[in-house]
Amino acid sequence: MPMEKNFCLLQLLLTLITSSIAQPTPETFCGKIKISDPFSLQNPRGSSPFNHMILCKHQRLFFRTSLGLFPISSINYTSKSLTISHPTCSSSIHFISPSLLSAGIPTPKEPNSIIFFNCSSVKHPKLSLISNCTLFDSCAVSLGAFEGSSSCLLVKDSTDLGREFDPKELSCTQYRRVYRSYSDDKDDKEGYEMGTRISFEIPDHIPNICNECQKPNGNCGVGLRCICHPNECRDKVFSPGISQNPINAVLCSLLSITFLMMSYKEGLFTMVT
Ligand SMILES: *[C@@H]1O[C@H](CO)[C@@H](O)[C@H](O)[C@H]1NC(C)=O
Ligand SMILES: *[C@@H]1O[C@H](CO)[C@@H](O)[C@H](O)[C@H]1NC(C)=O
Ligand SMILES: *[C@@H]1O[C@H](CO)[C@@H](O)[C@H](O)[C@H]1NC(C)=O
Repeated sequence: MPMEKNFCLLQLLLTLITSSIAQPTPETFCGKIKISDPFSLQNPRGSSPFNHMILCKHQRLFFRTSLGLFPISSINYTSKSLTISHPTCSSSIHFISPSLLSAGIPTPKEPNSIIFFNCSSVKHPKLSLISNCTLFDSCAVSLGAFEGSSSCLLVKDSTDLGREFDPKELSCTQYRRVYRSYSDDKDDKEGYEMGTRISFEIPDHIPNICNECQKPNGNCGVGLRCICHPNECRDKVFSPGISQNPINAVLCSLLSITFLMMSYKEGLFTMVT
């Protein structure tokens, strides 16, 4: 309990600090990541639907979804894509497919892939899409430090598997989301980076990307759901299995909001800026 109180105080303090530091400039940064068109931190409810896609919280940038917040490691404004980091392996118990994150959002130029580790079954209807890989080391070791060979399964384009695929079907205990950093048919480990690429380029031929979220079985993933229905965004860092006491969380947010409103009233902002 005292931990939660401290956390609440800290959140209050951070709310105050970040809100008083924010300066309205056309180009801003969230931590080290440049934020510019189509995103805006000043006008988070701005005209571009993709503006609901990101959230800057205590100088850390996140991809917003209806499941929670996923950390963004970089944005490339040339290729119009952002990268969700996935530095460590995750347990298959809480499998989040790249397809689930990106469904309905235009596909990035390079496909998102998945590597499964420690699989004990090799029988699956979609086995043709899955290849043996010895290019990646075991889960415990980072992709950079390759030594020896431990087996893993690679799915080059995760969209082929569909959103319903579950690595437990192959009895894999762990997985990692990766993407190809350049198009090259060589199965070169160097061609892969850790994380998931999400595109933010709206193709001209799609009049309204949110139409998919209206259909009962539409191609609407957790990212698009949040873009189209911002009230369904869950603005809490995604961490499976760990849940904050909901009442405390609500109280804490209310307290922060009240404080923020009070400081607006007191003209604290004009004083600081
Ligand atoms: C951004 O994307 C472009 C086009 O795909 C690529 O040439 C460039 O190297 C990327 N920039 C970074 C920093 O990755
Ligand atoms: C691999 O799977 C076995 C059982 O299937 C499990 O006991 C072991 O902890 C797993 N290893 C890793 C690194 O997850
Ligand atoms: C992977 O390798 C194992 C054993 O070496 C083999 O039994 C299996 O069929 C291979 N799977 C694929 C998808 O090639």
